[in-house]
Amino acid sequence: APVNVTVTVDTGKAGPKIEPAIYGQFAEHLGRGIYEGVWVGPDSKIPNTNGYRNDVLAALRHIKVPVVRWPGGCFADEYDWRDGIGPRAKRPVRINRHWGGVTEDNQFGTHEFMNYSELLGTDAYVAGNMGSMGPRDMSQWVEYMTAEQGSLAEERKKNGREKPWTVKYFGVGNETWGCGGSMRPEYSADLHRRYAEFVNAPAGKPKIVKVASGANASDYNFTDVMMRQARDRMNALSVHYYTLPTGKWDKKGAATGFSEDEWASTLSRATFMDELIGKHAEMMDKHDPEKKVAMYVDEWGTWYDQEAGSTPGFLYQQNSLRDAEVAALTLNIFHRHTDRVKMANIAQMVNVLQAMILTDKGRMVLTPTYHVFDMYVPFQGATPYAAEVKGPTYEKAGFKVPMVDVSAARGTDGKLYLSLTNTDPNKPARVTTNLSGTARGRILTGPAIDTHNTFDKPNTIMPATYSARSSGGKLTFDLPAKSVVVVAID
Ligand code: AHR
Repeated sequence: APVNVTVTVDTGKAGPKIEPAIYGQFAEHLGRGIYEGVWVGPDSKIPNTNGYRNDVLAALRHIKVPVVRWPGGCFADEYDWRDGIGPRAKRPVRINRHWGGVTEDNQFGTHEFMNYSELLGTDAYVAGNMGSMGPRDMSQWVEYMTAEQGSLAEERKKNGREKPWTVKYFGVGNETWGCGGSMRPEYSADLHRRYAEFVNAPAGKPKIVKVASGANASDYNFTDVMMRQARDRMNALSVHYYTLPTGKWDKKGAATGFSEDEWASTLSRATFMDELIGKHAEMMDKHDPEKKVAMYVDEWGTWYDQEAGSTPGFLYQQNSLRDAEVAALTLNIFHRHTDRVKMANIAQMVNVLQAMILTDKGRMVLTPTYHVFDMYVPFQGATPYAAEVKGPTYEKAGFKVPMVDVSAARGTDGKLYLSLTNTDPNKPARVTTNLSGTARGRILTGPAIDTHNTFDKPNTIMPATYSARSSGGKLTFDLPAKSVVVVAID
């Protein structure tokens, strides 16, 4: 028999809107994320538009990617933007020290990224190098991209781009506590103040949103220090958090073929995001009660042992129904923290970590995570409502998560949207609600906890149509074990 759960949505209690940027992507020069994943070059046999693969471009357009963060990650603090401009044949070849020690031939640079953003219809979030280059380099990069006049603008025009681009967001360094320079928070805050001073849009143009590099996971002190010393020099402060099934970096756990214990530990560790945001937000509130500085979770997602046979350092992993649940639970958490969380970027867009899309030469598969992002599109820009769940927790191997998690919001089209996730891999739930009307939408589920798509069977796990029942005038949802549902209520 299904487990009974009740959900009460309070449409009288609305939160600040869900910024579309919460559905942002992260695309680093790492493994096959950019090369092969996004860029195949104009001479490739793989169908492409000016070098960008068409299949991936179309799939990303479909999920309305609001913002892409590029070029790193750790790569950002080793990147000299000058390597990636000018005739492609003349660009230098560097070593990508962090990610496999492979060569980086700079075929994808500033023009390729900024033009891609325009083609995709997404905002650009460019991450600058604070770790290994000077503030003048950072400032000149911004000028190269955004200026109407001057030598740098002339150089850009000579390189094929007449009009300036719009750089909406600029990251001042990345993970300054680690690969971005191994800094103490005090030093990081001072350096942020210095570099941020030189990141400016041309006179008369909208200001660039300056993002300070923030804490690693639960390092709340880092947020405290950054806010105390540098809050007046930033528009947003980042936080990075990854979900590892085992919680250990040396043996993280496999992407498929895992046990139910690891299903439970992964979902439970993913929902730690709620406490994490809450505690970082407390630190921010202390210094910024008016919430002028936004929190950007600009790296998040699952991180598994990479697939056997894949290139070391490329962070290529499969993506299963478990990742779909992680995505849904995490997006729901962001929906509950819209007062502070204004952007999030899942790591990473294609072929790296918890990717939307996997590619193998000319072939492409959409992952279960992609399907959740697709189902959740109506939440972009929506107004979230408070929702209370009364039901049991799902528990296994000492890990706990609520059996049913929910998010409700009024979409920009005026409709009420409801998302429901059943985290229990064995038991169905019967969810009774206080809502009435008709509820139609889609469900994502599969026979196994690691159901996933492969290049040979790309449609093994896909959303199917779903509708709720009405009983006694109220909507009732039958949720199969391990499922994610999103419906529109008319
Ligand atoms: O996403 C992979 C890496 O994780 C990023 O380069 C870095 O910022 C983080 O440690």
